Amino acid sequence: MKFREIKKYNSCKADCEVIIVSKEKDIIDKKDLKLLSFKIKTEEVAFLPHLHRIYVGVDELNSNECRLALFNAIKKIKGTQYKSLKIKVDDKSLLKSVVEGIILGSYSFDKYKTSKSRFNLKTIYIAKSFNKKIVKEAKIVAESVNFAKDIVNRTPDDIYPEKLAKLAKKVAKSLSNTSCEVYDEKFLKREGMNLFYAVGRASIHKPRLIHLKYKPKNPKKRIALVGKGLTYDSGGLSLKPSNAMVTMKLDKSGAISVLSILKAVAELKLPIEIDCIIGAAENMIGGNAYKPDDVFIAKNGKSVEVRNTDAEGRLVLADCLCYAQELKPDYIIDMATLTGACVVALGEYTFGVMGHNSNLKHTIIKSANRVGELASSLPFNRYLKRTLKSNVADISNISSTRYGGAITASLFLDAFIEEKNKERWIHLDIAGPAYNENGWGYNQAGGTGAGVRTCVEWIRNL
Ligand code: BES
Ligand code: ZN
Ligand code: ZN
Repeated sequence: MKFREIKKYNSCKADCEVIIVSKEKDIIDKKDLKLLSFKIKTEEVAFLPHLHRIYVGVDELNSNECRLALFNAIKKIKGTQYKSLKIKVDDKSLLKSVVEGIILGSYSFDKYKTSKSRFNLKTIYIAKSFNKKIVKEAKIVAESVNFAKDIVNRTPDDIYPEKLAKLAKKVAKSLSNTSCEVYDEKFLKREGMNLFYAVGRASIHKPRLIHLKYKPKNPKKRIALVGKGLTYDSGGLSLKPSNAMVTMKLDKSGAISVLSILKAVAELKLPIEIDCIIGAAENMIGGNAYKPDDVFIAKNGKSVEVRNTDAEGRLVLADCLCYAQELKPDYIIDMATLTGACVVALGEYTFGVMGHNSNLKHTIIKSANRVGELASSLPFNRYLKRTLKSNVADISNISSTRYGGAITASLFLDAFIEEKNKERWIHLDIAGPAYNENGWGYNQAGGTGAGVRTCVEWIRNL
């Protein structure tokens, strides 16, 4: 899709036009809209095919509302023959979200359908506040989000650790200053990453540690992004009930989000060095499966009692966090679809933000608010920490209470963060918003790329 500047809006011959309505006087076709009972409020859309005009309502003229409005406008005309569209954006501060809304709205997933959806829109003409740089940057970020959706939506038979590694290599190759190393299961054993190894060992698809690096000249900061890449989570021997297993291809979302963030940061050429560490494994059953009662030694020497093989993400992440800390980054962010409890706590649209550094949590949540993602802090406390005690090992992989499950999972990760790194680390539990079966806001059904826009925004402002 191309975005072009137009000087004279009225003489621009686009196939159709989008009008954002925040007040009565934005409406030209008053009679038609009255007939359609159009109201000036968010998520209202009126398509007038005879006039080739789409009206979208907003409660208030701000960037979050405009992103949603454009998403809805695009959704409306997706199946049409329109090749070009024009829109007047009065305020430069809204341009970014207009472009994002259009690109996010243009996404559809039909990889496994025999009849593919047609999307004819090729050119977007923007009047008044067009700005090349803003458009380019908004495009990079929104396309990274669509990239994330596209990978998350692929099936476990299609994307397994080795395939994910191949894909990461391909992404690295397409970016400047970026490299990608892939390590196999023998490496995990050699490095003492026994928790990660155990989780992946029953699958015919062996685990992979994927390490991408974006290294610009004179980086201002160095960040490690760690992603949970369970290409499938059957629960292992603590098998999930069949209904809960459906959608568990989503369990690679953390990995895909960190990969997409690196992609965007590299394309934006931001002066921040990024190490992206992906723990890719498939949690399966089999004669070789790890078991409740097993005890394994993590990369940092801590022993872990496995009491539930479905709490596998934290095991993979524990070893990956140890690996990440060896790189001595300024910040460590891990992203994971870690717990159903986080979805219970915050609802399915909000991701949880956990860690020791309140300022860091605050800036992440502020970044989320700015880009229209929902994020909320979940606080640690010493009483919940105690519930991870094990009689046979240093720590148990599940809590003795089912309450506060998102926090106890995060406290498990905390046990693998060195004292000197406590303030550098933050954990994002994206189990809720990473994937949905119905679509909401400007997210289609399926993968959403949760956290990508938030983290890019946060990195940009470092
Ligand atoms: N991948 C799941 C968490 C999940 C659940 C993500 C629903 C998205 C939607 C994770 O590995 C898991 O199974 N966690 C368990 C932990 C429990 C055994 C302590 C859970 O949430 O039930
Ligand atoms: Zn699980
Ligand atoms: Zn999982």
